[in-house]
Amino acid sequence: MQKVAPPRTYRVKSFGCQMNVYDGERMAELLGEQGIAPAPEGEEADLVVLNTCHIREKAAEKVYSDIGRLRREDGTSPLIAVAGCVAQAEGEEIMARAPAVRMVVGPQAYHRLPGMIADAVEGRRVTDTDMPAETKFDALPARRRVGPSAFLTVQEGCDKFCTYCVVPYTRGAEVSRPFAALVEEAARLVDAGAREITLLGQNVNAWQGEDARGRAIGLEGLVRALAALPDLARIRYTTSHPADMSEALIAAHGEIGKLMPFLHLPVQSGNDRVLKAMNRSHTAESYLAILDRVRAARPDIALSGDFIVGFPGESEAEFEDTLGLVEAVGYAQCFSFKYSPRPGTPAATMADQIAPEVMDDRLQRLQAALNRDQLAFNEASLGRTCEVLVERKGRHPGQWLGKSPWLQSVHFEGEAQVGEIVTVQLASAGPNSLRGIRKVPAEA
Ligand code: 5AD
Ligand code: SF4
Repeated sequence: MQKVAPPRTYRVKSFGCQMNVYDGERMAELLGEQGIAPAPEGEEADLVVLNTCHIREKAAEKVYSDIGRLRREDGTSPLIAVAGCVAQAEGEEIMARAPAVRMVVGPQAYHRLPGMIADAVEGRRVTDTDMPAETKFDALPARRRVGPSAFLTVQEGCDKFCTYCVVPYTRGAEVSRPFAALVEEAARLVDAGAREITLLGQNVNAWQGEDARGRAIGLEGLVRALAALPDLARIRYTTSHPADMSEALIAAHGEIGKLMPFLHLPVQSGNDRVLKAMNRSHTAESYLAILDRVRAARPDIALSGDFIVGFPGESEAEFEDTLGLVEAVGYAQCFSFKYSPRPGTPAATMADQIAPEVMDDRLQRLQAALNRDQLAFNEASLGRTCEVLVERKGRHPGQWLGKSPWLQSVHFEGEAQVGEIVTVQLASAGPNSLRGIRKVPAEA
């Protein structure tokens, strides 16, 4: 490949989950430290990092269309690095299929990007999909400036091996980052402007560590330690597995005021046969029992989940069990997907793959139910006075956007600033957001 000038500007484009957003931010900071600046809006960057998602086929295919779009009229392209889970899973294929790609870097190796860029500039094509023993987190620069709501990766990887899922292959085994490093990174995030921290992990509630006194603790212990940071107002965590929903973590929802009343606990299906075929370790009943205990600890908790429709062999009656579970829970918001066969996973070769039109129909019916519940949840909040963490300006002059404790988007008008926590009364509700009326402190 041709030599090129060292890049002066970069753009990082992240697809998929919040962990990718976090990784994308960390890559951007790393590039910044190398003296490479973010490309101005509307201008082509010298270096483009595509931080990809492999969870479903559609997400994985996006990388190729994006690479195609980066091609210039003269046939050349900027320096392209493919990062993230597609890089990990299909690195060789990308190199073969997309000659414009100079770098392929997996999610555990992106701290080595600077060296890879140096090689790529010299005209070499480089792949690094190692899962090195040294952690990338030690090699990344400290965080300097973040928005009011920041992510903190505390755990990576998954040992659960649900039969449809690529995560255990792309992100590797479950690893918890050490307590001390997390408390330090959280303190830095707060110094850099964060008022809310969302703890991230593919199985975040499987996090384990030792506190400062050497005692074994779970996620609730980490949350408790972070709650002691005076300028940190809110803590959230995502995403969780029912099997790791310990009694201590459930109790923490009732005990730690800074832990927000929101729980994302994927269930995937409401039918026990399907759950077993998915290798989920819970039944519909044991899942509902967990939610009952969480609600007992924190009655106002907003619940969220993930669903897959059309898993191989799913019958109409089995799908209806999912609708029944949705009805029983009354979710505040959810994600739902059509089953997508992923290469290398056990479900991909199972008999009775479901026809696309059946999946479309089921997804539509499920989403109608979930949307109905989401609107009902928002409408039930009307009249409530609540605190909103202001995240950014709205579209209209004088309008601000933020989040309620229940992770609803709330807009309001009046004096405010980003990062402030204001009191509003919830006055009207749509399916995706609510309007609040700002309360001046004397009224609040
Ligand atoms: N097909 C469809 N959805 C999937 N998910 C994971 N793997 C697949 C797949 N092969 C969904 C699950 C998971 C969420 C992150 O993505 O619902 O909880
Ligand atoms: Fe995938 Fe299941 Fe692990 Fe979640 S728990 S990342 S769905 S294997």
